This record gives sequence, C-alpha cells and structure tokens, in this order.
Amino acid sequence: MLQGKSIVLGVSGGIAVYKAVELLRLLTKAGADVHVIMTKNAQEFVAPLTFQTLSGHPVHTGLFSLSQEQEIDHISLADRADLFILAPATANLVGKIAQGLADDLLTTSVMATKAPVLIVPAMNNNMYENLIYQRNQKFLSDSGYFILEPIKGTLACGWEGQGKLPDPTVIFAAAESLLTPKDLIGCRILVTAGPTREEIDPARYISNYSSGKMGFAVAAAAQQRGAQVVLIAGPTNLTVPVGVRCVPIFSAEEMRSAVYDNLKGVDVVIKAAAVADYRPVDRSTQKMKKTADKLTLELEKNPDILAELGQQKEDRILVGFAAETERLLVHAAEKLQKKNLDLIVANDITREGAGFNVDTNIVRFLHANGRVEELELMSKAKVAQQLLNRVAVLWKAK
Ligand code: PMT
Repeated sequence: MLQGKSIVLGVSGGIAVYKAVELLRLLTKAGADVHVIMTKNAQEFVAPLTFQTLSGHPVHTGLFSLSQEQEIDHISLADRADLFILAPATANLVGKIAQGLADDLLTTSVMATKAPVLIVPAMNNNMYENLIYQRNQKFLSDSGYFILEPIKGTLACGWEGQGKLPDPTVIFAAAESLLTPKDLIGCRILVTAGPTREEIDPARYISNYSSGKMGFAVAAAAQQRGAQVVLIAGPTNLTVPVGVRCVPIFSAEEMRSAVYDNLKGVDVVIKAAAVADYRPVDRSTQKMKKTADKLTLELEKNPDILAELGQQKEDRILVGFAAETERLLVHAAEKLQKKNLDLIVANDITREGAGFNVDTNIVRFLHANGRVEELELMSKAKVAQQLLNRVAVLWKAK
C-alpha cells in the first residue's frame, strides 16, 4: 500500500523523536518515498543525519535554506505528498497548526498541503489533559486532521499517564490505513488465524507450527480496507491489529464455538487457521507420569469447521487455506470442492519463504470455477491484499 507513496514526516521536539527514526525505517522498508522535516527543537534530540541516512534525502530544516529550496521548496513538498505524518507532535506544534500559524518550514508545509495529515501527539500527561491543548486537538480533528491518540504509560518525565507516542508499528498501520482504498466498507469478515492446541494433560498439548502471521495480515488488511473484522485466533505472540475485534481461543472445539457465536451477519469467512485435525480422546486432569516405556495416545477427529460452514453456506463467501507438502493443486482443489468454497489459498509449506512462521508466502489461488492463479514470493501483508482484491470482487458480485 505504501509502495511509491510520497510521505512527509514532520518531526517536532520531544524525547519521542527517536521513535520517529524507527517509523521512518518502517515506511521506507514498505517502499514509501519519505521526506523528513525537522523543527529546530527536534534537532536537539536526534541529528538530521540519522533521518537523512534512512530516508535517502536531505532533511528539510529551514524555511529559507537556499540549497534545500532550490531542490524542493515547502510548497512542492506539500504538493507532492500523499500523506503528512507529524510524529511526535508537540503541544506547541498542535497549537500553532490549530491557530493557523505558519512560522517555520513544518507549519508552513502543513498549512499548504491538501494531503491527509496524521497527527501523533506526545507530551507530558498534564499538558495533554490541559483544556487549551484539548480544544486545539479537537478543533484539528473536527477540521479533518487525523489524530492518533497518545498511549498511557510511564512518561520520560517519570510521570504516569496518557502522553506516550504509540509504538511506531501502530503509527505505520494508521498511515497505511489512511492510504488504503476503502473498498470493503459495509463488509463483515470473520478471519481465523494461528494454531489450535489440543490438550493431553495440564502440561502438554498437540499443535502445529502456525504463528498466526498469515491470518493476522488478512485481518489487518481487511480492517484497513474498511471491513468490520472479527478475528478468531489461536495462541500467538502477535499484536491484534488496531480496529479488529479479537476472540482468543485455545482448541479446535473452542474455535468452532467462537465461529458460530460470531457468524451472524458475516458476509465473508476466511479460514487461515491451522486447525488440529485430531485431539486426544481422554484429557488427563493431572500431569501424566513417565512410567511405561511406550505410550499410545488415542486421538479422535476434530470437527471440520470449514466443511460444516460449506454445508450451510447461505450467501456467505467462504475462503479456505490449504497447507500442503505434496501435490499442492490436487489436494487444494479437493478441499475447495469438498468444503464448498469460493476460493482456496494453497501454500506448499515445504518451499522456502512459504507457509508456517515466516513473514512471506508463496500461494496459488484456486477459484470455484477452476481458475488457478500463481503468485510469486511476497510478504504475507501483500498476499493478504491480493486475496482481498479477489474477495472484494466476489462480495460486490453478491
Ligand atoms: O500462521 P502462519 O505461521 O502465518 O502460517 C500460515 C499457514 C501455513 C497456517 C496458512 O497459510 C495456512 O495454510 N492455513 C491453513 C492450514 C491448514 O490447516 O490447512 P488444512 O489443509 O488442514 O485445512 C484446510 C482448511 O480447512 C483451512 O482453511 C482450515 O482452517 C480449515 N479447517 C481445517 C481443519 C478443521 N478441523 N477445521 C477447519 O476449519
């Protein structure tokens, strides 16, 4: 979504400036062309050279710097931007923008731009709660500026309260969201992600290598495109994407209950989870002792949630994933047909960069009409976007 986008990152003076460096790294890694404007005070915290090195462009610092102005002036900087991000935004910066003051390069550029402006304030909590500050922030929000609220925590001054800059990944997601076309507004999507764990005793379980990355990427992308998303997730270490409602589950049976509890009104089900096919017949309430030389565990089949949904499809769109180690297309096509799906995403988990617990995937889309599309290696975030392009077409055709 950020590939080739022109972003102006405005950095004002506060201890959180170092987090803007990480934000810049995320933005450039995603392919954005980022120009940084630093206020005089911001340069007291981190040297412009750091931002220059990471952005690949000179950092803009002065309104009247001839060498910079020759190359790109504040008007063209404002004009060419697809998005402005002000992070961290001090009370002073927010106040000046709200009052229509433009006395340095950053405030002048913000005033001159027609691009969306994402303001991410960070300051002492008393300053943040100050009525004058709040009035300024509300005025900007009412005027169409996007505000990403600071979070609560221990502030640089040692105080506890709301005023911390959110994690750079959260700011990145908000920026991505602002630049994403909202083609799924009105669409309700249920996504499953991660593994299930089938308990043997209080200390052990049967599971698989799923990290949840694929399903979380789908949930995040769907939310950014305007869908209302519920994410039913097995145990993972991942952060729930902003704006997504997450229902944590443990076992396949819990996943099944959660799917049915949240199915009402859902337009699209996307099952990226790796559900354990079997569970132990008996679950010991005490930790099993190591006595016999051999141990046989009796397993029984878990319900196939997706196959059940396929039996009672109504007008829901059903998308499955198939994790295969051989005869990828044959097995995936069988699942597509047997589970009555609209689309299945087949991944050969033996290929490097595909499948479990990596940030990338190599997938094929098998459509109900027999069409097969082969995608190259790409990030799971991009696979999610590609998948949602197909889902959007199916949903709009309903
Ligand atoms: O989580 P990651 O580390 O990012 O890895 C991603 C992934 C490899 C888990 C993902 O891309 C993937 O392939 N998910 C499906 C894995 C799988 O279990 O496939 P399957 O062939 O066993 O099941 C086919 C479909 O039926 C899946 O959509 C599955 O969610 C669903 N199913 C399976 C069994 C079951 N009892 N109930 C189900 O609903």
